[in-house]
Amino acid sequence: MTVPAFARVPGVPASDDAALLARLAAALRRSGFTHDGVARLLGPGATSALERDQAVPALRVLEPVLADEAAPGRGLAAVVVLFLLGRTAPAAALAQALAPLGPAELVGLGLAETVPGGLRALVDLRPHAADDGTELWVASDLGASQRPGVLRRDHVLGIGQASLTLAQTTDRRAVDRALDLGTGCGIQTFHLLAHARHVTATDVSDRALGFTRFNLVLNAAALDLDPERLEDRVDLCRGSLLEPVAGERFDLVVSNPPFVITPRRPGETAEQRWTYRDGGLPGDRLVADLVGALPQVMAPGATAHLLGNWEVPRSGDGTPAADRWAERPAAWVAPGTDAWVIQRELVSPEEYAETWLRDAAESRDPEGYERAYRDYLDDFAARGVEAVGFGMVRLRRPGPERPAGEGRRRFEHLPHPVQQPLAPVLAAAERRADWLEDRAGDWTGAHLVVPEDVTEERHQRPGAEHPGVILLRQGAGLRRTVVLTSEAAGLVGACDGELSTAQVLAALAGLLGWTGDEAQRLTEEVRALVRDGFLVPAQDGTAG
Ligand SMILES: C[S@@+](CC[C@H](N)C(=O)[O-])C[C@H]1O[C@@H](n2cnc3c(N)ncnc32)[C@H](O)[C@@H]1O
Repeated sequence: MTVPAFARVPGVPASDDAALLARLAAALRRSGFTHDGVARLLGPGATSALERDQAVPALRVLEPVLADEAAPGRGLAAVVVLFLLGRTAPAAALAQALAPLGPAELVGLGLAETVPGGLRALVDLRPHAADDGTELWVASDLGASQRPGVLRRDHVLGIGQASLTLAQTTDRRAVDRALDLGTGCGIQTFHLLAHARHVTATDVSDRALGFTRFNLVLNAAALDLDPERLEDRVDLCRGSLLEPVAGERFDLVVSNPPFVITPRRPGETAEQRWTYRDGGLPGDRLVADLVGALPQVMAPGATAHLLGNWEVPRSGDGTPAADRWAERPAAWVAPGTDAWVIQRELVSPEEYAETWLRDAAESRDPEGYERAYRDYLDDFAARGVEAVGFGMVRLRRPGPERPAGEGRRRFEHLPHPVQQPLAPVLAAAERRADWLEDRAGDWTGAHLVVPEDVTEERHQRPGAEHPGVILLRQGAGLRRTVVLTSEAAGLVGACDGELSTAQVLAALAGLLGWTGDEAQRLTEEVRALVRDGFLVPAQDGTAG
């Protein structure tokens, strides 16, 4: 029998025996190796420490359990020690936890190796509870806290904070075809399978595609897949960026691309790069190319969701980076494409270098660390980089209902905590923008209301007759705060859905004796409040 593509990649667990993987999934479930089961066993302190890659609190909880052969939870403790902590786990306790599967099957699949004292994991395997409640197990390479030394160059990333951020930012509408570019262990694909008929998952790394395939087969039942006919719902394609899908069209695209800015070295080879984060291009070129080219594979009406970094070059006139960061990403977007870029962080070159040197555990090699740190600063200096931004990019290719134009653009720095998952918030904002655009100058006929989460805050000097500052705050969504004029505050206060905006404006004009362009200015201010969800049309789907 022929072995399916990516089912037997060296150094990756094998996925050509679907029946065995179904038995493994059943054994893992029976052992209690679920998101909640592990949290119960470890307790809150050790669980959150483990989320920060700190194993010591978990070891302190688990060691006494493993030492006592009669302790309840001993089997689960062994599974956690093996797959989450990357330490040696006693074979007998594992056999007890996973029966009828035994250590031999774990070794045969390439999940673990036999070492003195028991078994040691060759991969990270962890439970993952998706937002819709689906419980999965996801295999990836062992992380920096689970193995000694610097990460291997072809490291396949597990579920990280960036993966979750992207998953929570992705539209979960039902679509026909979705693309997951740079799939890694497959995390975005698993989420996409809940609402896409078919997913194409690409990567340059055979090891990544091997892990994705293993995870798909292991979780076939939960993901509603026939493990013998994966291609009915998922295609795994090897290739760089858009090359493997050239000429195709998708309704939804997601990518957590290898966006990490990395100093290039003369004569470097692909094997010298950390594939999981470095696409091999100078500076932020990979993200620039991707943002510019993605519309080529987007069907009309499609959205694309990606994460990225962008460099902010030093300005000649001393304008701070915070005021100029959007210039580069704005130049990348293809004409006719809507783009919404939300910058979550803006850091100095030094902070950037430190973050990414830590990420691959390069600090474990002090000499190499110093060299790599210098390389980073030289590289940024050569391009005159003053700061580096990180954030989310949402692209939309307008459908036939929208006239072809330049495309709607929005670039915002929102570093504060926002509601998660964020995707419904962004989609609602897009609907409000469509609503305003559809009505052009005519939207003031609408009756507006103030959403439940919006509150007003007035700051008034003691003894002052009027407030000096009036703020409107959102408790949910993007949790924006906006400074209001007193006229806008008056209008917002009157927005109970009873009168149309035009009627409230006319009433204010009469009351305040307006003779100039006051109504026009207030209309613009209110338009921005509608765009940002501080006011929403009464009984209209644009609110949420
Ligand atoms: C940051 S990881 C993202 C993994 C996963 N999608 C997630 O959300 O966590 C980036 C992935 O892109 C892959 N990659 C690197 N260079 C690529 C390229 N030129 N084209 C496509 N994928 C690439 C890497 O192998 C890696 O799996």
